[in-house]
Amino acid sequence: MTVSRFREEPDPRFWRLNRSVDFDFRLAPHDLAQSRAHAAALNRIGVIVDDELPVLDAALAEINAEIQGGAFEFLPSDEDVHMAIERRLGDLIGPLAGKLHTGRSRNDQVATDMAMAVMDHSGQAVTLITDAMTALLGLARSHRDWAMPGYTHLQRAQPVYLGHHLLAYFWMLSRDVTRFQAAGQAASVLPLGSGALAGVNWEIDRRAVARELGFADITPNSLDATSNRDFVLDYMAAASVCATHLSRLGSELVIWSSTEFGFCRIAEPFTSGSSIMPQKQNPDSAELLRAKAPRVIADLTTLLGVMHALPLTYGKDMQEDKEPFFDSVDTIEASLAMTTGILEGIRFDRDRLLAAAGDEMLAATEIADLLVRRGMPFREAHGIVGDLVRQCVQEGRSLSDLTSEEIRMRSELFDDEYYEVLKQSSWLESKRSEGGTSSASLVRQIEFATERLADLS
Ligand code: ARG
Repeated sequence: MTVSRFREEPDPRFWRLNRSVDFDFRLAPHDLAQSRAHAAALNRIGVIVDDELPVLDAALAEINAEIQGGAFEFLPSDEDVHMAIERRLGDLIGPLAGKLHTGRSRNDQVATDMAMAVMDHSGQAVTLITDAMTALLGLARSHRDWAMPGYTHLQRAQPVYLGHHLLAYFWMLSRDVTRFQAAGQAASVLPLGSGALAGVNWEIDRRAVARELGFADITPNSLDATSNRDFVLDYMAAASVCATHLSRLGSELVIWSSTEFGFCRIAEPFTSGSSIMPQKQNPDSAELLRAKAPRVIADLTTLLGVMHALPLTYGKDMQEDKEPFFDSVDTIEASLAMTTGILEGIRFDRDRLLAAAGDEMLAATEIADLLVRRGMPFREAHGIVGDLVRQCVQEGRSLSDLTSEEIRMRSELFDDEYYEVLKQSSWLESKRSEGGTSSASLVRQIEFATERLADLS
């Protein structure tokens, strides 16, 4: 930084850590947009006169073009993106460039850039999530009556429809949308005009600047404004939960696509081969989804660590918000885009799913409920069916192999309906509660999901 107070050059051992251009150059489009709005605001109060404004605007546009085209040269002496742009502005238009920093500090400037980046990427996350939700809903519609086992503890528990299972992820992602939208709203409060920490000496119309830059409001306290990075944390918290959801989906796809399960095949473009075993087709994409979450969570905890116990207002510590933030952005955006791709190409194996769902033991709860309908308390019924299951396991028989004498020995309340209940489709169709897996409930759920997507577009 060209600060006249200093006579000595910064030590390279300090500069290497202090210089942030390598990662904050990504803020350049926001920084330039912000500068244009700030120049206009300074013009309205006469600090920048009418014939100066177009000169500044044209130079800022030229720098923008240089940056977009990759022609902008960052110098080793540029401390950060803000200083690099200011230096380049000086190259282009001379001393007029120096007027732009009137009534602005890098402290409110960088907070504003970060807020703009969070608004931008929250919106992008919502778009990417909506794509994945669209793919999930399409799959749920086309697989609404495909039976499969539902699991707890990764042990077969009760049968469900595949459409129901897939929509579980739809609703997770729907909540992620809400979280990213909230992060975007939290960022939509303009810090610019707060100066270094105490406000500025100029009657800048902050609300006009906010409108121009797409902020919903302005910050009410300059100390809070320059020290606040909550909106970055909000974005990263949303990204952490979203990445966690994707990791669960990834994990299930790894398991389901194994030869042992054989429930699905991930399309070739999302798998890779082995360098030694020619037969292999590995679900690398799903494995990466599984593994990315801890990285995004680490980004969040890094910034939480930076911010904790930090005295008001700005501290250089806060420059450490950018690398974790952009790492989260890149990771979650790439993961979401890949998720949609995986879902668009996935194929399920109806027979394998059905065979697994046909495991009669999955009907144990249904049998217990049969006794309950005949007046027995559920706990007692649970015990009786547990005895039946143990007998079957010991004797290598299935529940429907048991004779009516054998079942009646356990309870007088049993009759032939016992065998009816063991017929497969009844276990699914009986789950008629709202949000349950029965076809009737699932049709309603698909309607809700369709409405949710319509609200988002
Ligand atoms: N590069 C700095 C950051 O990202 C900009 C703000 C610098 N402010 C200061 N007072 N040194 O935090």
